[in-house]
Amino acid sequence: MIELRGIRKSFGQKEVLKGVDLVIPTGSTTCVIGKSGSGKSVLLKHIVGLLHADAGTVLIDGKDVDQISRKDLFDLRRRIGYVFQGAALFDSLSVFDNVVISLVEHGERSETVLESEARRVLSSVGLLPDLTEEGSPLFAREYQILRNKKPSDLSGGMRKRVGVARALVGSPDYIFYDEPTTGLDPVTSQQIDDLIGDLASKLKVTSLVITHDMFSIFNIADHVAMLVDGVVRFQGDVPALRECADEEVVDFLSRYVAEGF
Ligand SMILES: Nc1ncnc2c1ncn2[C@@H]1O[C@H](COP(=O)(O)OP(=O)(O)O)[C@@H](O)[C@H]1O
Ligand SMILES: [Mg+2]
Repeated sequence: MIELRGIRKSFGQKEVLKGVDLVIPTGSTTCVIGKSGSGKSVLLKHIVGLLHADAGTVLIDGKDVDQISRKDLFDLRRRIGYVFQGAALFDSLSVFDNVVISLVEHGERSETVLESEARRVLSSVGLLPDLTEEGSPLFAREYQILRNKKPSDLSGGMRKRVGVARALVGSPDYIFYDEPTTGLDPVTSQQIDDLIGDLASKLKVTSLVITHDMFSIFNIADHVAMLVDGVVRFQGDVPALRECADEEVVDFLSRYVAEGF
């Protein structure tokens, strides 16, 4: 379980997080919603240790991330897969090199290990046939074609899948997605939502999804937290979100309600 207690963060004079309390239950898919600029990405970066809070604590499975040794922090990072906002693939690198980059950076040199991990994660995100077909000529052919492609050869939806595949390397317990459907058309967005849901149930990962897409929330969330003015203004399940009478929450939801939700 991940627990944030009283997280505060300022940049210069601007206080972005003003005491955020949030619980991400193990096995759940938690969506964090909020307006653009409300501090959602900043919040995520505190959990993975890319930013440090001015006050408050981040506990992952009971351990305070600011109190643990470098080695434990390193191990902890490996348990978290992070799909960056915009998927952020390296354009000059092949799909294969993009996917295995963290393993290579951590010193893995065995081609057998790298290739087999790439096949596994690319299959998990649906860019290759099921792994049970791994020995087949079709699987081998599709893998050879895909592994050598560059991000520019792929559609937006495929690029997102490669970004998700990269996050799955090393079989993390947690996956964090920062706006995974932003910039995608509705059909592709739905496919990425389905993928997030599939991975959560198949791989039993705990997922945290930052989004401002209400369709995604109704599709995938077990648990929703809404960030308003630097604090968590609402936290609960989707039925509770629909019932919530808080003015800010109602205002945020209203444009989607108008579209049939
Ligand atoms: N490294 C940084 N330095 C200064 N300001 C930052 C930094 N990162 C984010 N901010 C500011 O914090 C606020 C929240 O940003 P962010 O978390 O990216 O919002 P969003 O909810 O859209 O993800 C914004 O005003 C942004 O400009
Ligand atoms: Mg953001």
